[in-house]
Amino acid sequence: MKKNIIVANWKLNGDIKTISCYLTYLKLRSSSFSKKNIIVIAPPTVFLERVYKDINNTNICLGAQNVDVNLTGAFTGENSALMMKDVGVKYIILGHSERRLFHNENNEIIAKKFSLVKKLNLIPILCIGETEIEKKSNKTEKSLKIQLKSILNVCGEKAFRNTVIAYEPVWSIGTGISADPKNVQLIHQFIKNYIKKYDSVSAENLIVQYGGSVNSLNTENFLKQPDVNGLLIGSASLKHEEFLKIIKISDNIL
Ligand code: 13P
Repeated sequence: MKKNIIVANWKLNGDIKTISCYLTYLKLRSSSFSKKNIIVIAPPTVFLERVYKDINNTNICLGAQNVDVNLTGAFTGENSALMMKDVGVKYIILGHSERRLFHNENNEIIAKKFSLVKKLNLIPILCIGETEIEKKSNKTEKSLKIQLKSILNVCGEKAFRNTVIAYEPVWSIGTGISADPKNVQLIHQFIKNYIKKYDSVSAENLIVQYGGSVNSLNTENFLKQPDVNGLLIGSASLKHEEFLKIIKISDNIL
């Protein structure tokens, strides 16, 4: 059965007033969402508890945008996976290209975070994707393999059981240029086949979502692809009207 996971990555946006208004609208409609869709809101860390209080008894899940590589200790300014779990987080976005670029996160650090998140029975949403240069030099598959292999090296062949992978081509994030859905289908197949070489159970159940300039106009074209199992949405998830439109399109497709 096809299931879609639709994730709102609010990045560094929002304030108490707008979040409260947004969630009021979302909750009003949430009982009509298809059970086949998993809806996740990933607000900035400081608002996690606030959002959880609002969505607690609904079918909307809480996601975090990042987590520290340590669980506790003298690491000023950080938040751990244990703390995330404590405030109701279920999904944690890891390895987003903005973390890789602006916070120097490499594959090794991301793999350590992935391992911690899994140990706590939280669900990682691992972001992988190629840069524009890699795409232009036909190195997309090579780049994705390196990013996946680093997780397998640290967490073992069954690493991708009960996880989500977000294919986010770096050149598409925040640019308004989305990838070609047919090409995305091929890349998602490639990702699943690559993981299958290590563990067929992981590959069978793997959720691979697409992210990069998704909006309500291109949602259907992505979700129609058999191996696109959801969307990771940045700017289009900031307005409740647009996010609700996207959820409705996903509901209608399933
Ligand atoms: P945009 O939807 O704004 O392109 O961002 C995508 C993204 O980075 C989601 O994680």
